[in-house]
Amino acid sequence: MEKKGSPLSPGKKTKTNIKSIYTMRIVRKDAKTDLWMKDEVDLTLMDPLIQKYNGKKGNLIPLLQGTQDLYGWLPRRAFEKISRETGLELSEMFGVATFYAQFRLKPVGKHIIKVCHGTACHVQNAKEISEALEEALKIKDGETTEDRLFTLESVACLGCCSLAPVMMISDQTYGKLTGNESARIVKNIRLADNN
Ligand code: FES
Repeated sequence: MEKKGSPLSPGKKTKTNIKSIYTMRIVRKDAKTDLWMKDEVDLTLMDPLIQKYNGKKGNLIPLLQGTQDLYGWLPRRAFEKISRETGLELSEMFGVATFYAQFRLKPVGKHIIKVCHGTACHVQNAKEISEALEEALKIKDGETTEDRLFTLESVACLGCCSLAPVMMISDQTYGKLTGNESARIVKNIRLADNN
């Protein structure tokens, strides 16, 4: 993470351990909220997870987290399998999954773009970053591109406010952004992925 006051150039990229940062997803007013995408997943991948937590007290959240680690999101058929094999109620599982922002009920792209809308980034016009990305990717906040390459999300503080406005793509943090700069970054990633 950059120290406060360190010299920065526009669009500066820094390596950040994403797992070390707690980010809270936020749903912007114009985000689409359709649930339960069609899912084609290998459910046998879940067998060791279910074996590990079956019958254990407080197993619901670890089961959901483990399932999301496997697929990147929570497919409906995964819920049904957990319910069938552990006896957990589908309604309870769904209630927990929709309550906590950490859980996703839609497939995500290869690269998750987190645009910070915390206070420092908001003041530095984070809206411009989100709008430029929405235009470049032809998706809205919370959506995934058709080629499943990018998912666009608004999040609360990413923990590097001195870089505001900030976005994170996979494990890379980009700071001091402009709308054009952020659009250029995703374009370059797409080009690199297609080669
Ligand atoms: S408010 Fe954006 S990184 Fe803190």
